[in-house]
Amino acid sequence: MIKPGEYIRDIFAQPVGTVLVARGWVKTRRDSKGISFVQISDGSCFTDLQVVIEAGTLPPETLEQITTGACVEFTGTLVESPAPGQPVELKASGCTVHGAAHPSSYPLQKKGHTMEFLREIAHLRPRANTFGAVFRVRNALSYAIHRFFQDRGFIYIHTPIITTSDCEGAGALFQVTTLDVAAPPRLADNAVDYTHDFFGKPAYLAVSGQLEAEILALAMANVYTFGPTFRAENSNTPRHLAEFWMVEPEMAFCDLDDDVELAQEFLQYIIRYVLDTCEADLAFFAKRIEPTVVETLEHVAQASFERITYTEAIRVLEASGRSWEFPVEWGSDLQAEHERYLTEEVFRRPVVVTDYPRQIKAFYMRVNDDEKTVRAMDVLVPRIGEIIGGSQREERPQVLRERLKECGLPEEPYWWYLQLREYGTVEHAGFGLGVERMMMYLTGMKNIRDVIPFPRTPGSADF
Ligand code: 4AD
Ligand code: MG
Repeated sequence: MIKPGEYIRDIFAQPVGTVLVARGWVKTRRDSKGISFVQISDGSCFTDLQVVIEAGTLPPETLEQITTGACVEFTGTLVESPAPGQPVELKASGCTVHGAAHPSSYPLQKKGHTMEFLREIAHLRPRANTFGAVFRVRNALSYAIHRFFQDRGFIYIHTPIITTSDCEGAGALFQVTTLDVAAPPRLADNAVDYTHDFFGKPAYLAVSGQLEAEILALAMANVYTFGPTFRAENSNTPRHLAEFWMVEPEMAFCDLDDDVELAQEFLQYIIRYVLDTCEADLAFFAKRIEPTVVETLEHVAQASFERITYTEAIRVLEASGRSWEFPVEWGSDLQAEHERYLTEEVFRRPVVVTDYPRQIKAFYMRVNDDEKTVRAMDVLVPRIGEIIGGSQREERPQVLRERLKECGLPEEPYWWYLQLREYGTVEHAGFGLGVERMMMYLTGMKNIRDVIPFPRTPGSADF
């Protein structure tokens, strides 16, 4: 096992003359005048360690096996490096090849692979520069998320992955069953008899942990859940996954203004953390993926977000003179093209849109005094569109009952959600950040399939 102090990241901080062991996978090898130059990576940092093997140092049968993709362990002495971009290199004195990587068939070569091809070799793509950088940023992002909430006294909770309620009321659910799908038990009217199913009723993968987070918030005030969520919507777009990670804070004694304020503070904190801790990875994304990525993040980390109501947003869109693919009219939902126009062209910074029409939002959002809109908020950012969705929750039991009915949902499965409104209810609010959308924003990566190690999308769940 590589111990702290032994990662390649740490080796770069050692003084010249240190004798040490370096382990990792070969990125490239180049031979010149009897000397071999081998770049190795252990994933700990963007820069590879250069190992220099002088003629006669290693037995020919070892040298032969040091090819791209091989897993190697070098011993040697750190020396000053004449090569640009690296302070030191390792002068090899010995090498063990743990696993050779058949040079004639190793699929990951130095350059020229498309992102589509790399998805087909998801078992090897973490060894490519781009994906090493993506997964280090993802790690830093996850850590920053916990740090932000822990520093503010939020309690981390785990909400269930299997549920029997559809939080968003959108119907895009994966069903979980142990019934024989080819021949399920049936009732007299031919409907499936779920009393024989594992949970005695239909069960699904959670689309959100929000409803359960609300339970905890009404006991522990400030909580957050952070886990995988599942949506069976058949949207084959660069911004949708069937399995994605969401962080959802939920706060008691909190209205929509507090909610928006926390969302801004949170986004700025995690951006700042990634800027401060992933400098080399971000420099790579700026050079190779999206030239504006770092300057945008620097700007957003400081600028205050624009805030407008849905009704104002509709007016801006109507006044744009554009011909939209999806028509703009009060009452219809904002589409990606509208969201991107607002944030990229009109305001040129993150935009928080609030107070959407009640008929296009979930049943749990608090109804405004105008009776037409609800206390919803979406945070939109350039290049991505919606990155956060949240709301103040309806805490009044009678209004909540009406909303369930209006949304065509039965009361019975929500009995506990309703009961919370009878016992110690309070103003409360929360939001959900899509971790992969945030990753796209941080890295400039264009397709959501390339910011999660093993993407799940319609027709694709390999690895
Ligand atoms: O806006 P959504 O649907 O909100 C909720 O689920 C609320 N229950 C959150 C809450 O208030 N606690 O989803 C939240 C975010 C979106 O803004 C988006 O970033 C991301 O989750 N998201 C997806 N990311 C990838 N693939 C999908 N299919 C996504 N659907 C939503
Ligand atoms: Mg949403």
